[in-house]
Parts: sequence; C-alpha cells; structure tokens
Amino acid sequence: MKIYRANIIYTPTPGKLEIIPHGYVVVKSNGLVEGVYKELPENMDWRRQVMDFGDKLLIPAFNDLHVHAPQYRNMGLALDLELLPWLNTYTFPEETKYADPEYARRLYRRFVHELWMQGTMRSAVFATIHPEATRILADLFIQAGMGAMVGLVGMNRNSPDTLQNTTDEVIEGMKMLKAHLDEHGDGRVMPIITPRFVPSCSEKMLTALGEYAKETGLPVQSHLSENRSEISWVHELEPDTTCYGGAYDKYGLFGQTPTLMAHCCYTDGEEMELMRKNGVYVVHCPMSNSNLSSGMAPIRKFLNAGIPVALGTDVSAGHHMSMLRVMQYAIQVSKLNYAQTKGEMPFLSLSEVFYLATKGGGSFFGQVGSFEPGYEFDALLVDDSYLNYDNYTLEQRLERYIYLGDDRDIKRRFCRGVELTEPVM
Ligand code: GUN
Ligand code: FE
Repeated sequence: MKIYRANIIYTPTPGKLEIIPHGYVVVKSNGLVEGVYKELPENMDWRRQVMDFGDKLLIPAFNDLHVHAPQYRNMGLALDLELLPWLNTYTFPEETKYADPEYARRLYRRFVHELWMQGTMRSAVFATIHPEATRILADLFIQAGMGAMVGLVGMNRNSPDTLQNTTDEVIEGMKMLKAHLDEHGDGRVMPIITPRFVPSCSEKMLTALGEYAKETGLPVQSHLSENRSEISWVHELEPDTTCYGGAYDKYGLFGQTPTLMAHCCYTDGEEMELMRKNGVYVVHCPMSNSNLSSGMAPIRKFLNAGIPVALGTDVSAGHHMSMLRVMQYAIQVSKLNYAQTKGEMPFLSLSEVFYLATKGGGSFFGQVGSFEPGYEFDALLVDDSYLNYDNYTLEQRLERYIYLGDDRDIKRRFCRGVELTEPVM
C-alpha cells in the first residue's frame, strides 16, 4: 500500500475535471488505485504511510496511441510535402536503416527515453518490417517498465523493394514477437497487428493479418482516411469497397479485435457508422494533420456518435513527442474547424482533450488513464510552481501547464504503481 498527497486532477468523464485539493490517492501493492480521498479515513496504519508532495499536481500519465518509433530521427524535419511524397522522399528511406540492429538499438533507446521524459507511460507504436529491430524496441520498453503495444509493420506493395516484407515474413515475425513477449513481458508490452495502410498491403497480406487477428485476438492498428490523394488511391486499389474503412473491414481488421485507426480526417457517413458499430478507435493526430496539410478530423462528430477517440503524436509527421503539444493542437484545430463549419462543430474543451490524452487513450490498455478505484496507477507529479505566481485555481494551473509547461516540470512518473526512474539503456 502506498499513499500520495497532492493536488489531484483527473477526468472520469470528458466533460468535467475532478479536482481534489491536497487530496490523497491510495494505491494497493498490486499497483491499482484503491481510492481517492479528500480526507484520509481514520486509519492509523494508513496515516503513517503518506508521502506528501505538497502543492504539486498529481495527474494521470499520458497515453500516445499513434507514434512511429523508427521516424524518431526525422522529428522536426522534412515537413514540406504532403503524405504520399513525404513517405517516399523522407520516411521510407529512414525506416530502411532499421535493417541494421545496431542502428535500431541506438535510435530506439533515445525514442523510449523520450517517451519516459515526456510522461507518456503507454503508447501504441509502429516499428518497421524488421523483426530483430522490433524485438529490440519491445525489450527496451520492458526494461524501462513502460507499457506499449508494438507492431511489426506489414507492407508488400507500393514501397521500395528494400522496405517490403512478404505475407509469410510478417506473420512469422508477429508469432515470434508474441512468443517473446509472452515469455519475457509482464503483460504491459504487447504485440499489435500492424498493416501499414491499404496502399502498402496486398489482398493476400490483409487476408492473412485478418486471420491472424481472429486466431489470436490481438489488437490491430493502421491509418485511415488521412489525406485526399490517399483516399482516391484506395478507391482505385479496392474498387469494390464503398469506403476506405470498408477495405479493412472486409479483411477482419476493423474492430473484429480492438482496433486503432489513426487520422480519420475525411471519415463521414458510411465509414463513421461502421466505426461506431464496430467500436473502432479514432486516433486523432492534429499536429501531424497540420504538418502534412492533411485536414481537420471531425472529432466533435465522432464524440457525438459515441466513437472512442484517443490522441497521438504521429511522430515524425507530428514534430514533437509531447502529449501537451497534441492537446494544444487538438483544441486549436477544433477551433479552426468550428470557424470553418460556422459553428456546426463546437470546439473541444480543456477537460475533453485532457480526458482524450489520459482516460480516452488509456481505455485501449484496460483500466488506465484515471484514478478511479481499480485503475492502474499511471501518474505524473508536476511542479508548476514557476507558473503559479499568483492566486490561480487548480483548474487554471492545469490549463497553464498544458499550454505552457514541458517535460522539465514532471518530477515523478509512475506506471502501474511503480515509480519509473530515468531509464539507463
Ligand atoms: N500512412 C502510411 N504510413 C504512414 C506514416 O508513416 N505516417 C503517416 N502520418 N501516415 C502514414
Ligand atoms: Fe502514422
């Protein structure tokens, strides 16, 4: 049992921040939250164990539900093209380098370290087509104590010969990754089935990955309706499906097991209905969608329809690993969308984006992203004292931290109840 005292802020529902000034969170030895209290119950045994964090903020840790680990070196570079030429010119050449396990180890170390630094305790990650490099990445997550779903990427068409695998190779690679993680993981690092996107994967590969999902129940991640040229191309490649999402659905890769679809900038009508019906997650990546001139995803419509929504950096189309930045962009892009639709889509509130970055994304990992009883205690202790020089309320302090803060403000990080010190890898 551990008990922490601080200014506690979390979002059981999107609409409202739960704020407990100088409250207590009681964490059981299995790492799950026992409860949050304004006053500690009269239990002397508990009172002796309080760790008092003074006036700091204690919030759920962040969850990044869409990020490309092998694009880490390109972060903050090469954002002068739209999606398809951007992939060919900058992204595929960089990912090709991960055939070399030593290169992979050197860069993946930095990537995992930076997730830790930014307070992102869980992530859904694209690796590359390379099984050895992907296993190295998964092992680094285990070593760091962080949660992650790691995907060996499947791609066998419309990409350089040097960056393609065969259907057999991706299935065999996923089986090896799964066996490795079943043996060495503690359940927090898991494999995720990862067809890159429809234009990269043949019918044969999509069929095999769909069957593998059905057989194992493993989750799926991919890209959907990100950019106009991409969508037209998918209609040419898959002429008998009426929407892009329908192509994944046809192969059993659209909610038949838990599924993440990044972007969804142009998702509407039939595709939106299919996502709702199948419980497919939208991963909103507004930083990436701005950088690649992709578009503005109709997040308000998804929320109104009851479609689950999470946030992602999408590094390196997104230029920063901080979920604080993603929250800022999510609000700002929603305001541009609000103006553009003449008020038809009300913009996102601070509590809504905070919910999406914590509990919204966390729900993909189970009971993660909140401090309600039974939730895994994933948390950040934030020292915003340099921003808090006047009588700001706790709600205002959270707002200023989201807009003005950065990784240096995070003083402690917890994942499933365990404090994670800086990974030395
Ligand atoms: N679609 C297919 N691959 C990618 C990628 O690496 N990044 C983004 N943003 N979209 C993609
Ligand atoms: Fe992406």
